[in-house]
Amino acid sequence: MRLAEPAWISGESGGHGMLGGVTIAPLMLGKHAVRPPVVLAPMAGITNVAFRRLCREQGGGVYVCEMITTRALVERIPKTLKMVAFAEDEDFRSLQLYGVDPDVTARAVRMVGEDGLADHIDLNFGCPVPKVTRRGGGSALPWRRKLFGRIVRQAVEAARPYGIPVTIKMRKGIDDDHLTYVEAGLIAQEAGVAAVALHARTAEQRYSGKADWDAIATLKQALDVPVLGNGDIWEGSDALRMVEQTGVDGVVVGRGCLGRPWLFADLEAAFTQGAGYQPVLPALGEVAKIMSRHAELLVDALEDEKHGCADFRKHVAWYLKGFPIGGELRRALAMVSSLAELDDLLAKLDPSVPFPEEALGQPRGRVNAPGKVSLPYGWLDSRDDDSVPEGAEMENSGG
Ligand SMILES: Cc1cc2nc3c(=O)[nH]c(=O)nc-3n(C[C@H](O)[C@H](O)[C@H](O)COP(=O)(O)O)c2cc1C
Repeated sequence: MRLAEPAWISGESGGHGMLGGVTIAPLMLGKHAVRPPVVLAPMAGITNVAFRRLCREQGGGVYVCEMITTRALVERIPKTLKMVAFAEDEDFRSLQLYGVDPDVTARAVRMVGEDGLADHIDLNFGCPVPKVTRRGGGSALPWRRKLFGRIVRQAVEAARPYGIPVTIKMRKGIDDDHLTYVEAGLIAQEAGVAAVALHARTAEQRYSGKADWDAIATLKQALDVPVLGNGDIWEGSDALRMVEQTGVDGVVVGRGCLGRPWLFADLEAAFTQGAGYQPVLPALGEVAKIMSRHAELLVDALEDEKHGCADFRKHVAWYLKGFPIGGELRRALAMVSSLAELDDLLAKLDPSVPFPEEALGQPRGRVNAPGKVSLPYGWLDSRDDDSVPEGAEMENSGG
């Protein structure tokens, strides 16, 4: 299903693609041109080396690793070092770091540079998980603008000698009364980031409601550095719409590719051919082949068939969403424990069943309800306090 090289890569369009009225230049992250301007969003527990390869096999873009905590990295926790593993053919190794301490963040960035661990660093300021925000981390942090600025500045300075571009990924703010994204974008730009990504929800929204693409347009207007839009891209056509509506330089795609790695082929087709592109709609036989490949890659990555298959189980329902498949077979697939068993079960599927078009454009993955954001005591009262919040430096990665 890999697509032919798009015209703009072969130079026929002079490096610019026309998107049914929208012109978009390649996204530059430092010296690296990203074509098409698509980023696989970091997703803990999902965007490991296996899933990234599966997606890379479909189309171009940047494929971000699972989130790594700076503390765990500098302490060289073995599980964390394993998570930082990239495949040999990943030519633009993109790593997301989570940190709340400017000094630890700078040490982690220096380590990435010195040990040659990655080619791009993204800083996570979007995590809404209560155990993180309660301690002032993730999406709570930009509210403390001086601390936020120190973290970003020190990361950019530490990365500079190695030529590593640093980007940030953030939400709109804590809630509608405490929006931070424009100010945080300006601070990050001033600090020297290569791009800013906005998941256009507040922390309070978690994954509920709709992403506010108007906020993405507002940020794009406010900044000179490239802006990446994130939230609710389910199809290539959504990406084109986001570019058209907001003027963003690129898109970040998360839940839309869960159980649909071919979304990256769809996105490439959309960005290459424009609005009239042919959507990529694999029949069940092709989906089964991709499922089998995904499980194989997970077994390879985890170096253990049982663990690889166990990890694969969470993807099964996403792959089969909308296809008419009996409950018993679905359940058996979701409990698979070996590659041979998986292939036997997949052989029971009718390969000719067409892709369920009614599942297009539908949310998938997390869609949980909004929830009040837990914050450290007095957090909202003092924006300019730049002391490092205690206990927010998680030691485990990928949360
Ligand atoms: C399972 C899961 C894990 C996630 N983990 C991270 C993470 O580690 N770092 C991060 O910045 N965002 C994380 N996110 C948020 C996504 O990167 C993205 O911002 C969000 O899903 C919105 O984009 P979407 O509408 O395309 O899904 C995660 C989302 C999901 C669903």
